[in-house]
Amino acid sequence: MALFSKPIKTLDDLFVHTLQDIYYAENQITKALPKMIDKATDPQLKQGFELHLQETKNQITRLEKVFQMHGQPVKGVTCAAMDGILEEAQEIMGDVDDKEVLDAAMLAAAQAVEHYEITRYGTLVAFARQLGRADCASVLEENLAEEKATDKKLTMLAESKVNRMAA
Ligand SMILES: [Fe+2]
Ligand SMILES: [Fe+2]
Repeated sequence: MALFSKPIKTLDDLFVHTLQDIYYAENQITKALPKMIDKATDPQLKQGFELHLQETKNQITRLEKVFQMHGQPVKGVTCAAMDGILEEAQEIMGDVDDKEVLDAAMLAAAQAVEHYEITRYGTLVAFARQLGRADCASVLEENLAEEKATDKKLTMLAESKVNRMAA
């Protein structure tokens, strides 16, 4: 993971590397979400995960567009942070038996994912603007807006219902 396929010398290199990082992360999320959909008991939580799986697939398509716009091959690089967040989610899912507590645990894990994505997309938008790629920035902003909206929905669901049911 610490070995980059190409040395990062410029802000442009860093932009491309970060794009590859989030591309890998989004692809890992599409693999993790079906298990969470499967295990979710609360219908709203299940539906929320289902919706976000569709959004995530769309986000991957947008990222592929940004690679193309920036003249770069579509490629991912291992994101140790996302691997770690998802590994931890898997672990806790295996450790919790109570259905309601499991919902609260998966919701919390999903928020950790969203927060990671928000930081990455925030950085990517800023880098793109700095590099004079307002066109790339506006595509990345669409993903950022979806992640923020998902995080907000998860917070509302946790506070209005899921945490209470788990208590
Ligand atoms: Fe995403
Ligand atoms: Fe997300």
